[in-house]
Amino acid sequence: MRLIPAGSSVARPCKTRYGPARVQARFADGSLERARFPLSFATNGDSLSMALQIQLAPGDASGVVCDVLVVSVLQGAIAAHPTVVALDKALGGALLEHVKALEFEAKLDQTLELPTLGRLKAKKLVLLGLGKPGDLDSARLRASLAGCVRSSSGGTARILHLALPDADLDLRCVGEGVALGVYRFTKYFTGDRRPKAELAKVGIHSARGVAGAAQKKQLDIGVAVAEAVAIARDAVNEPPNVMTPEGLAEVARGIARKHKLKIKVLDKKGILAAGMNLHYAVGQGSENEPRFIHLSYVPKKKSKKIVFVGKGITFDSGGLCIKPAAGMQEMKSDMAGAAAVLGAIAAVATVKPDVEVHAIVAAAENMPDAAAYRPADVFTSLDGKTVEIINTDAEGRLVLADALAYATRLKPDLIIDAATLTGAALVALGKTCSAFYATDDDVARALETAARTAGEQFWRMPLLEELGEQLKSDIADLKHTADRWGGSISAALFLREFVGKFPWIHCDVAGPVLADRAKGMYPKGATGHPVLTFLTFVEQAGRAPR
Ligand code: BES
Ligand code: MN
Ligand code: ZN
Repeated sequence: MRLIPAGSSVARPCKTRYGPARVQARFADGSLERARFPLSFATNGDSLSMALQIQLAPGDASGVVCDVLVVSVLQGAIAAHPTVVALDKALGGALLEHVKALEFEAKLDQTLELPTLGRLKAKKLVLLGLGKPGDLDSARLRASLAGCVRSSSGGTARILHLALPDADLDLRCVGEGVALGVYRFTKYFTGDRRPKAELAKVGIHSARGVAGAAQKKQLDIGVAVAEAVAIARDAVNEPPNVMTPEGLAEVARGIARKHKLKIKVLDKKGILAAGMNLHYAVGQGSENEPRFIHLSYVPKKKSKKIVFVGKGITFDSGGLCIKPAAGMQEMKSDMAGAAAVLGAIAAVATVKPDVEVHAIVAAAENMPDAAAYRPADVFTSLDGKTVEIINTDAEGRLVLADALAYATRLKPDLIIDAATLTGAALVALGKTCSAFYATDDDVARALETAARTAGEQFWRMPLLEELGEQLKSDIADLKHTADRWGGSISAALFLREFVGKFPWIHCDVAGPVLADRAKGMYPKGATGHPVLTFLTFVEQAGRAPR
């Protein structure tokens, strides 16, 4: 049989860092060819560690042979940094002279890059300012290291060393920052577009002398956490012809395998049989059939039970209420909530807090088709409520409604969902901040604390009851959209109908899951938001008294 490309899919295997890409092609008779090429995307969270070692390096960094030497320094303590002292000596005093001439003060994120012209073992020297010691918190340290590693190593360096300042730094944070900065999504580049070099080794030098086993462990945990963030980034960056609902299930299976988590995946038939008619309806117009995914992390000792739910629309064309062409390609990221809850449970399984955590993903593709659901259709949700469809482009709240109803059956202490739910959230808060809603003030404060520690932006929005009146349907229990005004709020009010009496947080992450440009810990493209916030939330819940 002859293979012809299906739509925009790439009908040949791509050589990649992680192996050949799974490519969905179509036979001439129209049938789909699925398993011809092995899966390519990082299904097991190994995407960074396979290619790269990040380790503590012994001794002073000034004499190491490397492509890039980053010396991170605190404001007011440049000349006191032992590596700076050694390098300045090797350069006959020229380094500190240069620092002075260029007015490098080591303000946070300030950098000074110098070619070493053969006078040092490092090919390039970068001084990175970390600001005043009193101002340096975990979020700033992580973001600053990530940004510096990203911009100083891009595509040309194989070996990078990082010298830390003489301060009490959290090595986990250092590991997270460095590994988050290394992230690149280059698998679909060929020939000249491939990076000239990829980082293979990062050596980290502590200015506090010999690092102990505890520090080494913290660094390793930090790198593993960043790998979990990379799972989410990879899943969002993958094109929608690869990252289908089944593709998301494969990512989840990879996480389950690696961390020995329990997993349940329902296919299209299973979703219907389970009574998730809203989820089924959204998926019925696509050849890439829907999947319902449930991963569980159940530690022996457990204080609380938190259930994460993610919107996994692998492509949102709008369905019959089709979106305009301009910008439609961004809707490959409409599964970013799902990617985040998968990344979060992978991170949780790495850090192993005493909290039971579940990750539920409602995955479907929203397409126009003869079989697609339509405005005016009525469906019965998992918990028995009837819903009248108004606009097929408001598909996210439908798949989430069934997934939230499913989550309540686990009798959790808290449900947290993440969804690229509304354009209105973007209008309200811009592209760098998520909107969140909470039924309980204590959990809202806990989310704000977690976000601050993680270095991610969240802003609480009100569940305005008066907007809920618009969700009454003339022929069913509910209609699923209200008018334009307060669109993020009415979407949240619709979701609230399905969480019963359980405490609940809804995160509308439509903005920050994709970045227009690299900044701090976020690269351009998929950011991995809000994996770190969710992980931090779980860890803090594990420490808090019940
Ligand atoms: N996935 C979109 C929301 C979205 C828009 C995310 C832009 C990221 C960037 C969602 O499914 C959607 O289409 N929402 C509609 C709802 C409306 C039809 C009630 C919206 O926000 O316009
Ligand atoms: Mn939509
Ligand atoms: Zn959507």
